[in-house]
Amino acid sequence: MSLLTIEGLTVTFGTFTALDNIDLTLDEGQLRFLIGPNGAGKTTLIDTITGRTRPTQGTITFNGHTLNTRSEHQIVRTGIGRTFQTSVVFEELTVADNVDLAASFRQRPWQLLRRRRTLPHTVTDILDRVGLTPHTHRPAATLSHGQRQWLEIAMLLAQRPRLLLLDEPVAGMSAEERTRTGALLTEIATDHTIVVIEHDMDFLRRYATDVTVLHEGRILTHGDVTTVQNDPKVQEVYLGRAPQEATP
Ligand SMILES: Nc1ncnc2c1ncn2[C@@H]1O[C@H](COP(=O)(O)OP(=O)(O)OP(=O)(O)O)[C@@H](O)[C@H]1O
Ligand SMILES: [Mg+2]
Repeated sequence: MSLLTIEGLTVTFGTFTALDNIDLTLDEGQLRFLIGPNGAGKTTLIDTITGRTRPTQGTITFNGHTLNTRSEHQIVRTGIGRTFQTSVVFEELTVADNVDLAASFRQRPWQLLRRRRTLPHTVTDILDRVGLTPHTHRPAATLSHGQRQWLEIAMLLAQRPRLLLLDEPVAGMSAEERTRTGALLTEIATDHTIVVIEHDMDFLRRYATDVTVLHEGRILTHGDVTTVQNDPKVQEVYLGRAPQEATP
């Protein structure tokens, strides 16, 4: 059985159709890349799965729960976490405190009130996993762009989601940061299901197996990187250019 099943999903904003009758399934443990030109509807799809935007038509089922009418908060509790295209870290808080705070929504109030001398293992383990241990006590404001993205992934892991939805996590990263992020995503995918929005074809060639292409609110094609890249429909959508060139 699929972890996430989307059937006949349509989202309209006034007279504009942002998502048009989308069908999509995700199996547990998949690392799925979602690509498509600007305005294709990628972020809208994540917004709709996470309850930020309501479906106009269709159903979204996650782990046996229908999500359509649930609030964003309830959907987080069913086990879906997401990042945003813009950063959501608390600048003045340390790296560890940001992760601790993200984890705290799972805790009971008395656990939050208890004074702690040391960081919980969950926080130190997660910082270790994303490679931020050396920066544990630094204010988030002092992190590099790449480190900030890893902090956001750490904050997501602290909420213990089964499904992670990452909106352009490598955008603006250096080559070295991209490589580290690709390795991190591959590692996280060993015990999570992940959807990554990304345009960069070099990155996809290195780390993607399953790729779904969205265009004008519809699913254009789905397959492995080579199949997708060689698909004439995909080449036409990107006007004969490599997909990463379609992004500013
Ligand atoms: N709340 C909204 N109200 C009206 N139109 C919207 C809203 N959200 C998105 N849109 C429109 O829906 C279309 C899809 O937007 P979306 O942000 O999902 O694209 P995207 O594929 O994520 O693009 P990008 O690569 O630029 O991030 C765009 O034309 C956008 O202007
Ligand atoms: Mg977007």
